[in-house]
Amino acid sequence: MLKLIHASKIYHRSGVCALRAVDLDVARGEYVSITGASGSGKSTLMHVLGLLDTLTAGRYLLDGEDVSRLPPQALARLRSERIGFVFQRFQLIPGMTALENVALPLVLQGVPHAVRLGRAAEQLEAVGLSDRLMHKPGQLSGGQQQRVAIARAVVTQPDVILADEPTAGLDPEAAADVLALFDRLHRAGNTIVLITHDRSAAARAARQLCLENGTLHSGQTK
Ligand SMILES: Nc1ncnc2c1ncn2[C@@H]1O[C@H](COP(=O)(O)OP(=O)(O)OP(=O)(O)O)[C@@H](O)[C@H]1O
Ligand SMILES: [Mg+2]
Repeated sequence: MLKLIHASKIYHRSGVCALRAVDLDVARGEYVSITGASGSGKSTLMHVLGLLDTLTAGRYLLDGEDVSRLPPQALARLRSERIGFVFQRFQLIPGMTALENVALPLVLQGVPHAVRLGRAAEQLEAVGLSDRLMHKPGQLSGGQQQRVAIARAVVTQPDVILADEPTAGLDPEAAADVLALFDRLHRAGNTIVLITHDRSAAARAARQLCLENGTLHSGQTK
């Protein structure tokens, strides 16, 4: 499903080599966690996998298609169709309701208004927020906002859910809710890549990887 072949990323402005000849193969339906010290390249890896950034060298195959050299417009389209993102800071639109936030990726795909609101409501129900559809992010707790973000990530039925430190800003109970949701999404057949500092969170994934100064290893960070 996701395949990196000798993938390297150099940020030319800083001269930092953030990924060094990374090989990674994530099969459909897998749940993989990635740990690593600050600056080890985790977010860079997520940006590459999520088509938010491109490689300096090496190749990236998404579902068998080489996407390493596609122009920005093609990347943007693939990103909106194939990738679901969950970020540490939720990145919800403050002026929109939970329902509108979750429906937003479907606007970009041209799904009709009534259909997308219906699908957004279903996803919010699935994350336990059917009584919060009309609330704006500022009227929700951090854990609730992250659950809205997860509903938004899955509403397009993406090929992969990429989560970068999704529990870092949450209290333990809300973090546990978020991890339970990922477990459920995994059981339902979703492919998940979870980046986290939290060792117990990482341990929930079937396969654990760690980044060390841009190099990927199996197992958790020591
Ligand atoms: N846009 C950028 N321009 C230049 N250098 C960058 C850029 N983004 C990241 N870097 C550098 O690349 C390296 C990896 O950064 P990255 O953000 O991937 O680390 P990380 O593992 O996500 O860290 P953290 O745990 O702190 O989020 C760091 O040395 C960082 O300074
Ligand atoms: Mg990071």
